[in-house]
Amino acid sequence: MTDHRVARLVDIVLKRGGPVDKPIGLILGSGLGELADEVADARIISYGELPGFPKPGVTGHAGRLVLGRIGNHDVAVLQGRAHYYEEGEIFAMKAPLETLHAIGCETLLLTNAAGSLRDSAGPGSVVLIRDHINLAGVSPLFGEAGTQRFVDMVDAYDPRYCQRFLDIAARENITLHEGVYAYFCGPNFETPAEVHAAKILGADLVGMSTAPEVIMARFLGLRVAAMSIITNYAAGTDSEPLSHEHTMSNAALALNDVKRLFANFLSDD
Ligand code: HPA
Repeated sequence: MTDHRVARLVDIVLKRGGPVDKPIGLILGSGLGELADEVADARIISYGELPGFPKPGVTGHAGRLVLGRIGNHDVAVLQGRAHYYEEGEIFAMKAPLETLHAIGCETLLLTNAAGSLRDSAGPGSVVLIRDHINLAGVSPLFGEAGTQRFVDMVDAYDPRYCQRFLDIAARENITLHEGVYAYFCGPNFETPAEVHAAKILGADLVGMSTAPEVIMARFLGLRVAAMSIITNYAAGTDSEPLSHEHTMSNAALALNDVKRLFANFLSDD
């Protein structure tokens, strides 16, 4: 986006949402939108009021920016995301992330729903993402100029944040798995052969979001942590048929654990 379009978004957000002090950015994925209910003193701005923000098309994605407070931190919650698969638009989350960065976000926490390749992490499990494999072969940085676009993706999922989440999980008695997320563009679920290939490549979970957002966030210099709620075993590894309805109902199983992990993370410091 041009600087002046971002400046206009910042203007709208701050006029409607009031001042914020280094808010922590959150992106809430399928079935996790309810986490926005935890925001105190919430100021809600619909994506429709924000030029360049997506119009999320998937059930479970509200399409609202919620500013407020959780624990000891101001937060800027993107309740709902747009995916590459909706319009074939890999820049779909660029405006929201540039806006978060421009209002002072230095940290981005992401959630999503994902399929598991690990027997030990079944539906309802929570997995901390340690790294990703971008199997869609596209980048939200296409078209960027300058050397800044050659973003270092080592430690993209901030190791210190990961450790903090693991410590919280241990302290709170929450099982938090760790894994590598394979990004497929969707919207179809993967074939069993694709899932098999992803496993050989070193993936532990598969999904249709998050990786482009993490690339954009790292480009902007944000520190990132991300976690997946496992809604199903990946295609061909289980007899259960896959569906979006299934994703939504199983996401609810882990909601409480994710809420507690986030509440503790945002209460620390
Ligand atoms: N594959 C891709 N995305 C998903 C899945 C899956 O199995 N489950 C939830 N989101």
